[in-house]
Amino acid sequence: MAEDRRGAILRLASWTGSDNPITRHMVGVQPPGSINLAGGLPAPELFPVDEVRAATERALRRFGPRALAYGPVAGLPELRALLARRFSRPGRSLGPENVVVTSGGLQALDFLGRALLERGDSILAQFPTYLGAIDAWKPAHPRHVALDWDAAPDAQQAAMQAAKFTYCVPNFSNPTGELVSLPRRRALLAAARAARALLVEDDPYGALYYDGPPLPTIFDLEAGLGDGGPWRGNVLHLGTLSKSIGPGLRIGWAIGDAAVVDAICMSMQG
Ligand SMILES: Cc1ncc(COP(=O)(O)O)c(C=O)c1O
Repeated sequence: MAEDRRGAILRLASWTGSDNPITRHMVGVQPPGSINLAGGLPAPELFPVDEVRAATERALRRFGPRALAYGPVAGLPELRALLARRFSRPGRSLGPENVVVTSGGLQALDFLGRALLERGDSILAQFPTYLGAIDAWKPAHPRHVALDWDAAPDAQQAAMQAAKFTYCVPNFSNPTGELVSLPRRRALLAAARAARALLVEDDPYGALYYDGPPLPTIFDLEAGLGDGGPWRGNVLHLGTLSKSIGPGLRIGWAIGDAAVVDAICMSMQG
């Protein structure tokens, strides 16, 4: 191939920018004898290999070839229904239409961005923000605005209204490990509801409480405000099996208002 043609084909899209040394060199690389704290990397020796083997055998016995076939875009109906039941609460009855299954939590962030972000939109987010989310939303060149947890309610609402959505990781946030307090969770939820804004709660680490009972997720705090009818919440809750079972499974989910879930499904269909 002629050099000029080759150069034209290999010219990267403008959103890729320059090298991404943090992702390239730090996350996912584990020199022997060290523990890499740069990312949320679970210890492989804790992966439940025997249990996953037994579950795989059960699934193949029960579903046969279907277990290896393409499935619906939004995920296996049985898994959507199971997640809907698991996240239903008094006052919030969820159905499969409230759930989309994704290839890990990162894919939910990616498709959320593809569904909602126009070039130059702003995102209000806990600072510092999870690098994978920043990377996933890069193609839209969003403006990142730091969330001020101590802002007065009016100012918080205005900040949320000015952004396309608000993003936070209240449980053991990546990269700081911060645990957001219950009053701050409540205040953020109240501001989101008053602003009629979308609040994305990313919760990959919620199953990893070791000291004391877990704080309620913002999604669960919102459940108490429902009237039992079709769920119309402001919180989109993201989860994954990556930190509790194993990241190689690539199973995650997004749960919330059916219209937001539908938008993600539409962007998955292209
Ligand atoms: C805050 C946060 N969100 C999402 C993810 C993505 O997880 P997954 O491996 O399921 O894509 C991670 C992984 O490190 C994370 O730390």
